[in-house]
Amino acid sequence: KRLVVLVSGSGTNLQALLDEIAATGVEAYGAEVVAVGADREGIEGLARAERAGLPTFVTKVKDYGTRDAWDAALAEAVAAHEPDLVVSAGFMKIVGKEFLARFGGRFVNTHPALLPSFPGAHGVRDALAYGARVTGCTVHFVDDGVDTGPIIAQGVVEVRDEDDESALHERIKEVERRLLVDVVGRLARNGYRIEGRKVVIQ
Ligand code: GRF
Repeated sequence: KRLVVLVSGSGTNLQALLDEIAATGVEAYGAEVVAVGADREGIEGLARAERAGLPTFVTKVKDYGTRDAWDAALAEAVAAHEPDLVVSAGFMKIVGKEFLARFGGRFVNTHPALLPSFPGAHGVRDALAYGARVTGCTVHFVDDGVDTGPIIAQGVVEVRDEDDESALHERIKEVERRLLVDVVGRLARNGYRIEGRKVVIQ
C-alpha cells in the first residue's frame, strides 16, 4: 500500500513510520511512504523526508486566493502520488470538502489527546490546564469536523504533577508513535470497514 504523509513540524511520527518500514520491510509492514507533504517550508519533517530520499511537496494557504483553492491544490498534490492511505502526522491544517471527497475514508490523523476530549490545535495544553489525570493520543479517520472522525485506536498516558506542556507532549508522543505505526500497518495489511462511528479492521 502507498502512503502519503502530511506534516507541519518536527515529523517524529513520520520518522517512526519510516524507521518501522525500514526495519520490517515494505512487504511485511504492508505499506511504504511514497511522498511527504507540508503546509510550510523549512520544517524538520520535510528534512526527514529528503534524508529518506522521498519526494516532497509544500502547499501553502497564502499561495491561494481562497481556502477552497488551497484545499483543491492540496488534494491534487496528494493525488499525484496515488496513495492508498493518507496520514496526517502533525499536519496543522483542516482540510476541506474537495480533499475529503477524494480521500475521506482513507485519511487518518493522530491527535495528542483522548478524543472527544481536548480536540483542536492545543490538546496537550488543554488537558494539562483542565487538570486531567490521564490523557493520551487518538488515531482516527478524518471527517468534516475538527478531530471528530471515527476513532481507530487510543493510548493512555498519565499526567504527572511536575508536567509542563512539552514534557507531557513528549511522553504522549512516545505512545503516539507506536500507536500510529501499529494502526497504519494493520489498516494497510488487513483492510478495514468504517461502520458509522465504528472502525472494523479485518
Ligand atoms: C503530534 O503529537 C501530533 O499528534 C500533534 O503534533 C505532534 C506532531 O509531532 N498534532 P511530529 O511532527 O510528528 O513530531
